[in-house]
Amino acid sequence: MCGIIGYVGHRPALPILIEGLHRLEYRGYDSAGVALPEDDGLYIAKSAGRISVLEQVIDAEKDGSTGIGHTRWATHGAPNDVNAHPHCDATGRIAVVHNGIIENYLSLRTFLEQQGRTFKSDTDTEVLVQLISFFYEGNIEDAVRRALHDVAGTYGIAVVSADEPDVIVAARKGSPLIIGVGKGEHILASDASAILAHTSQVVYLNDGDIARITADGARMTTLEAIPVTRAVEEVEWSLDQIELAGYEHFMLKEIFEQPTSLKNCLRGRLDLNEGTVHLGGLVDCSRELTRAKRFIMTACGTAWHSALVGEYLFEDLIRVPTEVEYASEFRYRNPIIEEGTVAIVVSQSGETTDTQAALREAKQRGALVLGVVNVVGSTIARETDAGVYLHVGPEIGVASTKAFTGQVAVLAMIACLLGRRKHMSPAAATQFLTALAAIPEQMHDILEQADQAKEVAERYHERENWLYLGRGYNYPVALEGALKLKEISYIHAEGLPAAEMKHGPIALITEGMPVVFVATAGTQYQKIISNINEVKSRGGSVIAIATKGDREIAKQADHVIYVPDTIEPLQPLLATIPLQLIAYHAALIRGCNVDKPRNLAKSVTVE
Ligand code: AGP
Repeated sequence: MCGIIGYVGHRPALPILIEGLHRLEYRGYDSAGVALPEDDGLYIAKSAGRISVLEQVIDAEKDGSTGIGHTRWATHGAPNDVNAHPHCDATGRIAVVHNGIIENYLSLRTFLEQQGRTFKSDTDTEVLVQLISFFYEGNIEDAVRRALHDVAGTYGIAVVSADEPDVIVAARKGSPLIIGVGKGEHILASDASAILAHTSQVVYLNDGDIARITADGARMTTLEAIPVTRAVEEVEWSLDQIELAGYEHFMLKEIFEQPTSLKNCLRGRLDLNEGTVHLGGLVDCSRELTRAKRFIMTACGTAWHSALVGEYLFEDLIRVPTEVEYASEFRYRNPIIEEGTVAIVVSQSGETTDTQAALREAKQRGALVLGVVNVVGSTIARETDAGVYLHVGPEIGVASTKAFTGQVAVLAMIACLLGRRKHMSPAAATQFLTALAAIPEQMHDILEQADQAKEVAERYHERENWLYLGRGYNYPVALEGALKLKEISYIHAEGLPAAEMKHGPIALITEGMPVVFVATAGTQYQKIISNINEVKSRGGSVIAIATKGDREIAKQADHVIYVPDTIEPLQPLLATIPLQLIAYHAALIRGCNVDKPRNLAKSVTVE
C-alpha cells in the first residue's frame, strides 16, 4: 500500500513527481524517493520519513523530463534510507519502484546471489530490480517481462533505465496502476489523485498488463507479449475535491462533508412516490437478487462495520439469511456457497487485497458478486458482476468517515429495493425512504453541535482505555467508534454488544473509565439504560449518544450528546458522527497525525 508516480513528457519531471507524491502520501508515508534518467546514468534521491524530508535532500536543479517516484508503507525491511525506494541494480542503470509483495523473493535472492549479485537492502523489491538486470539485454521492457515470469506475489511497478531515458515500463498484478493521458505527456500513478492536476483522461491497467510508456503513447501488452488495448476513461472527481478546502485535516473535512456526500449518494435513487429505489448498477442481475436465498457480505475494517449494519438491514427488510465475514478469514476458510448465494463485497478504495481475494473466492465458487465501492474504476468495481457506487467523492483521510455512512446508506437502499419485492408494503418503504431522505439535513444539525464531542475528548483524552457499547443496529456503531479512536489517537478502545459486558469485560471498569454508550431510542432502550447503570455502579464515566428530547438518560449519564430522532435501522447514520468527532479531537489534543496515523495506510494492498 505504497504510492507510485511516474512522468514522461516535455516538462521537468521532478516537480510533477514531488507534487504527485504529496497527493499519494496517504497511501504510505514512512519513506520516499525518486529516480530520473540523466547524462547516461540515473539520478536517485531517497530518504526515510515524509515527502517533506525527501524535498530537503533532493537536487531541485534536476530537469530531466522522465522520472519515477515512490512513497512507502514498509512490508519488508524497516523504514530507512537504504530500504526506501527506488531500488537499483548493481550497475546503477536500472531503477524500480514497487507497491505489493514479492512472495518468492528469498529464493530469487538466493539464486541471484549464486550468480554473484550482492544486495544492499532487506527489501523484496531490490530482488526484483536485480532480476530484471539479470535478464537485461538492451531492451528494458523485455527484461521486465522475463523477470515477472519468475515472480510470485503482487506488484504495481514502474521501471526506468539509463539506456532508454525516455521510457517508463509499468506492470501490475494485484496492485492498482493508472496512466493519465496528456498532450505529449503521460503520468503513471497508483490512483487518480496524483493525476487530476494534469488530466482527467485515464487508462486503468489490468492484472497481467505491461505498459511501455513514452511521451507520445502507452503501448500495453500481456506477460506473454500479446498486444492489448485498454479504454481511455474520464475520472469523475475534480481537483478541488481532493484539496483541504480550508479545513485543517482531510478527516475533519470529510466528517463535515457528510450532509453533502450523503445527498450525492442518495441523489436520483430514491422514489418516494412509488416507495422504491433505483440502482442502475443492479438492473442486470435483478432477477437473481430477487431469488437470492442467502447473502454473504465481506469486507475489512470500517467497511466490515458497515456490512454488519447491512446484515441487520437485510434480515430486517428482506427477511433472507445474511452473514458478514471478515474478508481475510473468508478467503481461506473453504466457504460453503450454494446455489442462490449472493456475495456483497464492501470497499471504499476498491483495492483492498483481502477483499479482492474474497471476491474472487466467492465468484470462483459460483456466487453472484456485487460491489459496494467508492473509487470508480477500481479493481473490485471492475471485477464484481454488478454493484453500486457510493458517490461520496474522494476520501483522503486514512480514517474512513463519509465512506462509512455512504456504505450504510447504499446497503439500506439495496435492502429496501429487495424488501419491496418480498414483504415490505409500499407504505412501509415510503416511510423508510422518507426517513433516509431526511438524514443529510439531520447530519447537519449534529455537526452544528460538534463542540460537545470536543468537550468529551478534552475531558478524557488522557485515559488509555475506553469501551464503546451498543445494542442492535447500534452495536456496529460502537465497533466503528472504537476503531476510529484506536486508529488515530492510539488509545486502546473496545467495541462490544452492551449485554456482553456481564460476561467478562465489565471487570475492566475502573474509576472514571470512559464508556461510550450508543443509546438512541429504540426497541432495546430500557435494556441499555440497565447496562448504563451496571457501568455507573462500578465507577465508569458514561458518555451517551442519545435521541434529542431524551431527558431520562441525562439523569444516568455523565455526558450526553444528542442526535435527531430517526427510525432505528437508520440511526447508525447519525449516531456515528459524534463518535467520529470524539476520535478526531482526542487525536488532535494528543498531538497525533490525524490524516496519516502511524503504521496505517489508506488502502491495504498487501495481505
Ligand atoms: C478505516 O478507517 C480504515 N482505514 C480501514 O479499516 C479500512 O476501512 C479498511 O482497510 C478497508 O478499506 P476499504 O474500504 O478501502 O476496503
